[in-house]
Amino acid sequence: MQPRIAIVYFSSSGVISQVASHLAEGAAAQDAEVRVRALGAHGRPAEPTLDDLDWAEGLLIGTPTWFGNIAAPLKAFLDTTSPLALHGRLADKPVTGFTSASLPNGGQEAALLALYHTMFHWGSLIVPTGYTHPVLRRIGGNPYGLSLTAPSSGELTPDQVEAARFVGGRITRTARQLRPTGPRQLRDFWPADTSPRPAGTLAAADSRRP
Ligand SMILES: Cc1cc2nc3c(=O)[nH]c(=O)nc-3n(C[C@H](O)[C@H](O)[C@H](O)COP(=O)(O)O)c2cc1C
Repeated sequence: MQPRIAIVYFSSSGVISQVASHLAEGAAAQDAEVRVRALGAHGRPAEPTLDDLDWAEGLLIGTPTWFGNIAAPLKAFLDTTSPLALHGRLADKPVTGFTSASLPNGGQEAALLALYHTMFHWGSLIVPTGYTHPVLRRIGGNPYGLSLTAPSSGELTPDQVEAARFVGGRITRTARQLRPTGPRQLRDFWPADTSPRPAGTLAAADSRRP
C-alpha cells in the first residue's frame, strides 16, 4: 500500500509553495499518495484540515522564517490540533519541517526548532535532514530540516529542487518503514479534566492542552 503523505504549509510570497511542490514530486516518486495543503492561499491547493493530519502516515510541515520563528498562520493552524494530539493521533508519525528565509543565516534553524516544539508535544517522530544527502550541504547545511535561502531570481535553484525531492522521498521511505502492523490504537493521553469551569469558557475536553 502507498504511504500517505501530507504536505502542510504556509507561504506568503511563493518560495515555500515551490518547495512544497517539489517535496510532493519526491514523495510521489517513492510511490506515496500525497495531499498538498496550503494555509490561507488563494488559487493554491486546499486548506489543511485535521483530517489531513490524521490521514497522513508522514508529515512535511513548512513555513517561511519570520523573525527567526514560524509564521503566525501556521502557528494558528497547529494550535487547532489538540483534538488529535489529546488522543495520540499524531504520536509515532514521522514528521519533518521545511523553511526558507531571505538570508543564509536569517534564522532558519531557530524557525525549525520552534516548529518542532509542537511536534514534541504531539509525540511525533521528528526526522531531521542531517547530512543524509550531499545536496543538503550544498544548499547550506542546515541539518534540522529542509532549509533554503530564498533565491533572488524567485525560482528555486537546481540544488534546492533536488534537495526538496530528496526530502519528500525520504519521509515517504521513513513512513513506509514505520507503518504500524496493526490498527492504530486510540490513546487518551490526557484523562478528562473534571474541574469546574466558569460559564462561557471552553468545554473541559477542548481546554485540555497537550
Ligand atoms: C514578516 C516577515 C518576517 C521575515 N523574517 C525574516 C527573518 O527573520 N530572516 C530572514 O532571513 N528573512 C525573513 N523574512 C523573509 C522570508 O523568510 C523569505 O522571503 C521567505 O523565503 C518567504 O517565503 P514565502 O515566499 O514562502 O513566503 C521575513 C519576511 C516577512 C514577511
